[in-house]
Amino acid sequence: MKILIIGSGGREYAIALALKRDENVKNLYFAPGNGATDGLGVNIDIKNFEELAKFAKQESVDLTIVGPEAPLVEGITDIFKKHNLTIFGVSKDAARLEGSKAFMKDFLSRHNIPTARYIQTNSIEQANSFIDTLKLPIVVKADGLCAGKGVIIAKSKKEAKETAESMLNGDSFGNAGKNIVIEEFLDGYELSIFAVCDGENYKIFPAAQDHKRLLDNDEGPNTGGMGAYAPTPLASDDIYAQTEEFIIKPTLKGMKDEGAPYTGVLFIGAMVVDKKVYVLEYNVRFGDPECEVLMPLLKTSASELFYKAATGRLNELNLEFKDEFAVGVVMASKDYPYKNSESQIINVTDRSDEHSHVAYAGVCKKDGTIYTNGGRVLVCVGVGKSIKVARDNAYNLTKKVSFEGAKFRNDIAYQAFK
Ligand code: AMP
Ligand code: GLY
Repeated sequence: MKILIIGSGGREYAIALALKRDENVKNLYFAPGNGATDGLGVNIDIKNFEELAKFAKQESVDLTIVGPEAPLVEGITDIFKKHNLTIFGVSKDAARLEGSKAFMKDFLSRHNIPTARYIQTNSIEQANSFIDTLKLPIVVKADGLCAGKGVIIAKSKKEAKETAESMLNGDSFGNAGKNIVIEEFLDGYELSIFAVCDGENYKIFPAAQDHKRLLDNDEGPNTGGMGAYAPTPLASDDIYAQTEEFIIKPTLKGMKDEGAPYTGVLFIGAMVVDKKVYVLEYNVRFGDPECEVLMPLLKTSASELFYKAATGRLNELNLEFKDEFAVGVVMASKDYPYKNSESQIINVTDRSDEHSHVAYAGVCKKDGTIYTNGGRVLVCVGVGKSIKVARDNAYNLTKKVSFEGAKFRNDIAYQAFK
């Protein structure tokens, strides 16, 4: 098979590593890829979706897999399908589940899927009167995509009202904040649960946990994610059962009934409160760094999984995972997440083996040398028969990878040991 992967992060690198394990995957292309993906395939510098579809046709690409949300929200899937190409990723209509928090919350409410009590509005008067009915803290969210920054947890009603106002008048997030969601705060623990869906059928992955804050003990600012592990013992059989019955099944049925069948990754940002699972948010793609710890656990062929999902044949597939755990520790640049950092040479003193490997994310290549080129630079992934062994393997790898200013959390997977 020839496979084109859209994206440039550690998530796409991890998907590629899983595909490379398949004997039937012959060629990998990345658009645009990063400074390390060219070691796994060929980086293509084409941004326009029509041009990319033309490239896929010319090269007889069998399957395109879309990593990030932006191209999905912009409609890459619809364009590839128009050209009769096989692509794994949601349609533009289905991508509204991530592209608009107001749409997502109204969808959950229409289909009685458990979520925090909320309103969505563009009126400051409505916002203020709903805020007055809520207990503290209060969650205020910009409707549109804000690169993970559009959620504010306000500690007072005054702060909630001021936040709502600065979103609505466009000051904080421009057009993405012209509509807002205000909701009650759910106090529990978070899980990242993924289902690969083909419009009708789905296959669920082992639940993961992300670590959003920059510093140990969940302190410091929010980031895109500083590490992840899977499977987490915090997801019981009952939690998986609730997620399937009350979340995934009604979502697939609801999307189909509403004319936007869901073919792609359903990422459930879940909050468990008193053993009950609520949807905090949907994303229409794999999480990053969650993907980096899930792909190494796949036993089933990755190309078969994504191809069958893209062609509506997931019912033919038995999705299996290794009886192992994976832990991923993100190494970030000196000034992440505050500002861009100067590019630095990355030194790796050890090759990857079956127990640990590097998933490269924000990197570029100059004269054959790999440099940092982004906030989250790479993920040290460890795999093992227990979370402890997987974590030790990941942290041992961090000792063999270095660049100036590198920083990482020392407590990834701590919730599994509580
Ligand atoms: P989101 O982008 O919607 O996932 O929100 C980012 C983060 O904000 C989540 O991962 C949670 O940690 C937190 N969050 C969002 N909504 C709520 C809520 N209703 N209650 C508690 N925490 C929330
Ligand atoms: N790690 C969370 C996300 O990808 O949104």
